[in-house]
Amino acid sequence: MTAGNAPASSSSSNTQAYGEAWYWDNRYTQDSSTFDWYQKYPSLAPLIRHYIPRHHPSLVVGCAFSEGMVDDGYDEVVNIDISSVVIEAMQKKYLNCPQLKYMIMDVRDMSAFDTSSFAAVIDKGTLDSLLCGHNSRHNATKMLGEVWRFSYLQITYGSPGYRLPILKELTWTIKLHVIEKLQSGNSSDWSRELTSPIPLDVNETVVGMNTDVHYIYVCIKDDSGKKEARII
Ligand SMILES: C[S@@+](CC[C@H](N)C(=O)[O-])C[C@H]1O[C@@H](n2cnc3c(N)ncnc32)[C@H](O)[C@@H]1O
Repeated sequence: MTAGNAPASSSSSNTQAYGEAWYWDNRYTQDSSTFDWYQKYPSLAPLIRHYIPRHHPSLVVGCAFSEGMVDDGYDEVVNIDISSVVIEAMQKKYLNCPQLKYMIMDVRDMSAFDTSSFAAVIDKGTLDSLLCGHNSRHNATKMLGEVWRFSYLQITYGSPGYRLPILKELTWTIKLHVIEKLQSGNSSDWSRELTSPIPLDVNETVVGMNTDVHYIYVCIKDDSGKKEARII
């Protein structure tokens, strides 16, 4: 798993536990420095604002130390993570910020939330974690079955050839955006606006693209009763 600017990587047996609470609790206990995977909020903000209304609650799954939405004017952001260590640290940090809620919860079972609870679910690196762990496809299916109840914005290293087959198992409308990796060190001729979706060719690869990017899949819930995902 690509860890972005995260702390040093772990052994392969630990890597198998990327979907488990004990792995993340150990990791956050050993390294209490806060960091954001892949991208920080300011670089993603134009896209978040484009798709997610400010005056309706949003849900961040596998939140860890990610933050920034409330400072950007979002009224209510609910954050869940399977790690009690990280949730307790963030509850303490934001004790006096009523717009931010932190809960220990497994993204594979979010039955505590009504379907109308959130405008959107934001995931940066959490499906990636489940896909690196034990029972990866089973866990990914459970997670996607939960987030499918809402609109879903996923920030990932997973390129379309690998990620779209998984996302397409659910009936939603999928748009793809890309953003250059932070500190990639490569200059790029990639000049597309972050908010403009990327066209895919028939093989679901992105035409003529620098690969030093993170992908953002915006999966919009579709209540039309259609039987297949639509990719635009
Ligand atoms: C790669 S980190 C990303 C953290 C954060 N979203 C970011 O961008 O910095 C994955 C996070 O998912 C959490 N996680 C892993 N499995 C989970 C699960 N089943 N339910 C909820 N959170 C989970 C981990 O505790 C970890 O904080």
